[in-house]
Order: sequence, then structure tokens, then C-alpha cells
Amino acid sequence: MTSAPSDVTRRWWKEAVVYQVYPQSFNDSDGDGVGDIPGIIEKVDYLADLGIDCVWLNPVYESPHVDNGYDISDYRTILDEFGTMADWEALRDALHDHGIRLIMDLVVNHTSDEHAWFVNSRSAKDAEKRDYYWWREGRDPEETDLDPDDYDTPEGVTEVPPNNWESFFGGSAWTYDETTDQWYLHTFDERMPDLNWETEAVREEVFDMMQWWFDKGIDGFRMDVVNLVSKPPDLPDGTDPEAVVRGADQFVNGPRVHEYLSELHDRLTDGRDVLTVGEMAELSVEEARRYTGENGDGMSMVFTFDHMRLDMVDSERWSYREWTPKELKETMTRWQEGLAEEGWNSLFLNNHDEPRQVSRFGDTGKYRRESAKLLATLLHTLRGTPYIYQGEELGMTNYPFESLDGIRDVDTLKNVRAARKQGRLADDEVMDLVRYRTRDNARTPMQWDDSGYAGFTEPNTGAEPWMPVNPNKDAINVDAERADPDSVWHYYRDLISLRKDRDVVVYGDYELRLADHESLWVYTRTLDTADRDAPDTLLVVLNFGSDETVFEPPADLDGRPAEILLSNYPATAEAVESDTFRPWEARIYDFA
Ligand code: NOJ
Repeated sequence: MTSAPSDVTRRWWKEAVVYQVYPQSFNDSDGDGVGDIPGIIEKVDYLADLGIDCVWLNPVYESPHVDNGYDISDYRTILDEFGTMADWEALRDALHDHGIRLIMDLVVNHTSDEHAWFVNSRSAKDAEKRDYYWWREGRDPEETDLDPDDYDTPEGVTEVPPNNWESFFGGSAWTYDETTDQWYLHTFDERMPDLNWETEAVREEVFDMMQWWFDKGIDGFRMDVVNLVSKPPDLPDGTDPEAVVRGADQFVNGPRVHEYLSELHDRLTDGRDVLTVGEMAELSVEEARRYTGENGDGMSMVFTFDHMRLDMVDSERWSYREWTPKELKETMTRWQEGLAEEGWNSLFLNNHDEPRQVSRFGDTGKYRRESAKLLATLLHTLRGTPYIYQGEELGMTNYPFESLDGIRDVDTLKNVRAARKQGRLADDEVMDLVRYRTRDNARTPMQWDDSGYAGFTEPNTGAEPWMPVNPNKDAINVDAERADPDSVWHYYRDLISLRKDRDVVVYGDYELRLADHESLWVYTRTLDTADRDAPDTLLVVLNFGSDETVFEPPADLDGRPAEILLSNYPATAEAVESDTFRPWEARIYDFA
């Protein structure tokens, strides 16, 4: 860093760029068509060349893979298909040798139904681990407003679930279990029962397991849906008709969540130099401060999703509405300003659960490259920590799925089925929406080169990649991007190194200009530093869209002439002063 901020608390995870690796789709070393840990090790040099500082590894634990690893059956074992614990240790060491940190996915709202705890729990009402999960009696339908026909129960079972909660994957959040004639709770798939954090032993198990991974030398955790872990023990019906799923008003940011997470912090992360990032949908800025602020629960930062709901009707994922650049600007600005004094933002526009950012927020046609770079400029110059999802640095796009037969994702399949059953989704809308929204868009193989399977795998006889390769791999792949100095990949590298050169990118204040403009997003980043007379200032101008827009850039700032530090169009002398912003043009101005 060239300058020292005078009044900020330095943290490695504020200065870092995190790269997300989805193991099954990154690189396959053994030809079975599924990515694996030795495959990731082969690409550590690649990650180091890009310049990233930390890897977030999606779940690699033992799991039946109902939900691609988010259904864990053993937290301390590596799934065979991905390799061994020795492979994982070799990956950790290879990353650390390159100065790259490693954070693991922590999935403790639920386990797999194959986890030994659940196997024991479901075996009898008085089983030792019965209260590790949520078991309840069903209800007489007469005493509720639920319709027994809406629930899949065995012949002869006429009761309805203990409450009206719905699962995020569609349908009821409860499944009837014949062994003990009771129901268990699952806020996701029925094969992913929710842990009962009211039970102290559950919390102890989770804390022990986290300690075990810290002892193995990891640098933090990405905490899956962690604001769902506390449920009110009397499990009341959801009453908010606006809730994202029925019941969410009861179990999102539940009654003891801050107590649990503060305890987790006190016991495990306080005084340890690690990154903890909580995945938290349905979160207000005020709540986020409670999780992350100075006097909060000790979490480094949160992933929030307001900006991921702009293209939905009432936050319903299986719907579509047009979003506008102004809405995106307003939403992300609200978070920039809301966490300016306390807390810290995570910056992302896609991940393994979201479609590709260029397909959603950019242009996949003529301006793919320019728009990919503009989005990158945004993510790397807002205040917060940027997360790059694998392939984003190439400008990868959505996959042209033709039918539901090509979809693997349990969430897409179940939700679409439920939406059709309830008449919320017409048959002729289904495929357009699925193509646009499915999580599988993010899960097609990483495109390393233009060979048959894009260099992701050389399959053994009879094997196929577990997801199809995007046909655009001939044009969009790592080899091509690295060979072209003007590529999206090189632009990412420049942005990452800018972050390392200039504290203002990390710690500078964000201030929005031209708030009302429909297509321009203009802001400054400003940092007072001890070694400068005037504050260090950057001005970012983003033209969000395929039309030219006129905006007169300042020629100087207090007598310091403007120069272009980075742009997605050639930074010629004329461009510095040009008041015409071309389609998807992004300029970062510096004032010498
Ligand atoms: C969020 C994860 O990112 C997603 O992939 C998963 O399906 C759910 N949590 C359930 O664990």
C-alpha cells in the first residue's frame, strides 16, 4: 500500500479479493466428469496470477449431494468424489504457500438426513439425539386453515403439519415420518432436516467442529443461511403475507440468533484473525449492523440480497420484472451508506446460487466484454470486499438450457413444480424463466480452453461432465482471455492490483453523485491519509446501458488535473475530457 489511512482499522479481509471455487465445476483431475480437489490444486498458480487473496471453497464434505454438498452427512470427512483429507491438506498448503487464504463453507442450519445425528434422532421418540432436530406432532386439519390435500402423507394419515411454514425449495417445511408418527422441520429439502439450536449439545457440536477446522489451519468460514438458526420453540404459524416464504417472519433473524452468534464469536473467532461472512437473506441494514458492527455479534461481514431481488415480483424468485440501473444504484447505495460507519459490505453480483452477472446485469451480445468490465469496475470500486465467482473473470454467461430435462438443481425443479401446481407459473413461461434464473447457469464447467470439454475434464470412457459445457467456450475461455491484453481477465487483474496499490479503494468513503440519473452511476471514493495534504480521491463513472450518455467529467479537483486510472475503453488523451460516455463505458478518474 502506498499510503496509510489515518483513522481506519486495517483488516486483511477488508483488503482482500475473495475468489469462490465451486469444486464440482472447477477442474476435474481424474476424468470422472466431476471437478475435484486435486483439480483445484492444479489451478493454484492460475489463482495466484489473477492476484486474488482468499478462496472460499463451497462444501467438499461427505454428502449424498441432494443439494450439491449443502446437505452434509459428515462435517469432518471429504467426499470421495472430491478426494481425500490429504488432498484437502495439500490444497490448503498450496494456497498458503502462494499467500492465498482459505475459507470453508459452514452449513449448520441443517444437515443431511444421512448424518449420524439424524439417523439416531429419527429412530425413536426417546432417541439420544431426538432433540438435535425439530420433531412435533401433526395437527387436526379442523383446527387449522391448512388443507390436508396440500401435503404428501401416507395413506391413512389425515393430519396436517405442526405449522404453516414453507420450505425455500417449495412446498411444506415439514415432512411426516412414519417411524415415530411425528413430523420434522426442514426449511430446505426434506432430506435436509433443520438442526435445533435450542439444544445446547447441538451448539457444542457445531463449536467443536468449527474449532477442529480452525485447528486444521483455515482462515475463516462462509456461514450458510446463518440467520435462520434460531426458531421460536413454540413454532408459531407465520402471519406475514409478504414473507418470502410462509413462516419466514418467525424463523428469519429468530429470537436467539444474536445470542447464538455472539457466543460463537466469543468462543471461536474473537481474537482470531479470520474472516466470517454470514449469508443472510431478508436482512435490513440495521440488522446487518447488529451482526457485524463494532458492538455487534463479531461477524466480519454479511452477504445480503436486496439487489438480487430487483428483477423479481415481491421477492418471488420464480417471477420476473424488469430492473433498472437506477434501482440497482439506489439499493447498493443504501447498503454503502448504511454500513459506512459500522459493519462492512460483501460485493457480489453472482455466485453459485445466481445466474451469471453479465447475463443478468450486463449485455451478452455486442457489449459483453464492455459490460463485464463495467460490472467488475463497480464491484471492485465500491466500499467492501469483492467476491469473484469462478468464470466471472472471463465474462462467462448463462447456459442456453432447452428443457427441464437438462436441469440438475433441486431448488429449480422443486420450486417450478410447486409454482406450476399452484397456477403461479404458466407452462409457456417456464423455460424462459428457468433459463434466466436457474442456479445451474452458474454451475456449468469452468471454461479453461476451447477443446471439447473446455479443458475442464478429459473424461474416462463412458464419462461425461456432470453439467454440460457452455457452447460459447470457443470464444470465452481462460487461454483466449489470457492471450488478449484487452480481455476481461486482464481487466480483473488490473482492478485487483489497483486495490493493492491504493488504500482509497479499500477504505475510502463512498459518496454518490447524480443520484437521480437513470443510467449513469457516478460516485467518489475519498480517503484522508497522514501522508497527503489533500484527501486521496477517485471518481468512478459508469454508463449502465447500451446507449451513449453525456456527462461532463471534471477537468480537475481543487487544481489537481483529472487523469484516467482505468477504463474499459482505450484511455486516450481525448477520452479523459470526452463528455460522451459510450455503451457500458466505465472510467475511474484519479486526481494527481
Ligand atoms: C444457501 C446455499 O448457498 C445454497 O446453495 C443452498 O441450497 C442453501 N443455502 C441451503 O443450504
